[in-house]
Amino acid sequence: LKHFLSTEGLSRELLTEILDRADTFLDGNGGIRNVPLLAGRTVMNLFFEASTRTRTTFEVAAKRLSADVLNIDISKSSTSKGETLRDMLWNLEAMTADVFVVRHGSSGAPHFIASQVTPRIAVVNAGDGRHAHPTQAMLDMLTIRRHAGDFTGLTVAIIGDIRHSRVARSEIHALQTLGAKEVRVIGPRTLLPRDFEELGVQVHEDMRRGMAGVDVAIALRIQNERMESALLPGSSEFYGLYGLTRERLKVASPNVLVMHPGPINRGVEIESEVADGPQSLILKQVNYGIAVRMAVLAMSVEGQDAERHAEAGAGQ
Ligand code: CP
Repeated sequence: LKHFLSTEGLSRELLTEILDRADTFLDGNGGIRNVPLLAGRTVMNLFFEASTRTRTTFEVAAKRLSADVLNIDISKSSTSKGETLRDMLWNLEAMTADVFVVRHGSSGAPHFIASQVTPRIAVVNAGDGRHAHPTQAMLDMLTIRRHAGDFTGLTVAIIGDIRHSRVARSEIHALQTLGAKEVRVIGPRTLLPRDFEELGVQVHEDMRRGMAGVDVAIALRIQNERMESALLPGSSEFYGLYGLTRERLKVASPNVLVMHPGPINRGVEIESEVADGPQSLILKQVNYGIAVRMAVLAMSVEGQDAERHAEAGAGQ
């Protein structure tokens, strides 16, 4: 691993290696180990869009690995004085960055940044537009694996605004690569992906049919900021048809796991009693996110180091 930009196209072996590595950072009592693998390295968080969980857990993850971590306040950076993104990156590189963790509202922005930086830098995608949120998908995979075991017997439903969701796309690719039995998407037609046939998922507009027998139910927030107002469903109308409620969980598997990447909107995509209930893994997801991000940071830097050593060896 060097850059970690998407789950699409990655092998089952690599995804499993990330999960195995993340497991080593969990201490078994809900805590996260301190493992000083990145002492002397610098991780820079470049968040061009709002975040609570991702930015903070990347910061905690970097600190648990003993890296120096800097949160760049983009709104106060010199890009507001006309400096280009490329110039900003080159200046941050001169401050000895090793990893850029990037969240951006535009799909493809982390790929662009990866193409601009020197080979010494690893770029990790922390969510770009509607495109991908690979570390969220991997922390969701770790949550499923730790609580449901092997993927091969599992039916997983992703519910709500799939069309505008980078989380859904990254989860679908990861679930399929890891061998999930069936991936369903449930929602109104206006919020379902147009390319579902290429994605290879089962599509359900009817919540009851979609929820029948599922082992894992992942509710998603409506991405208001990524859609035209004409498409926006009313909150109460959406909750009435697709809200994840105790009643709707009755047709799922008796041990169904409930997940949500956050931020949650109670009474819109999920009932409070379900979000806080015994089947909910929502806060576990956040905790596992630290371990997954430690794994991705460590593996990215190790990949970068291995490449440098190989080049140095070839040059001798
Ligand atoms: N799940 C997620 O990406 O949350 P944040 O927007 O708070 O980072």
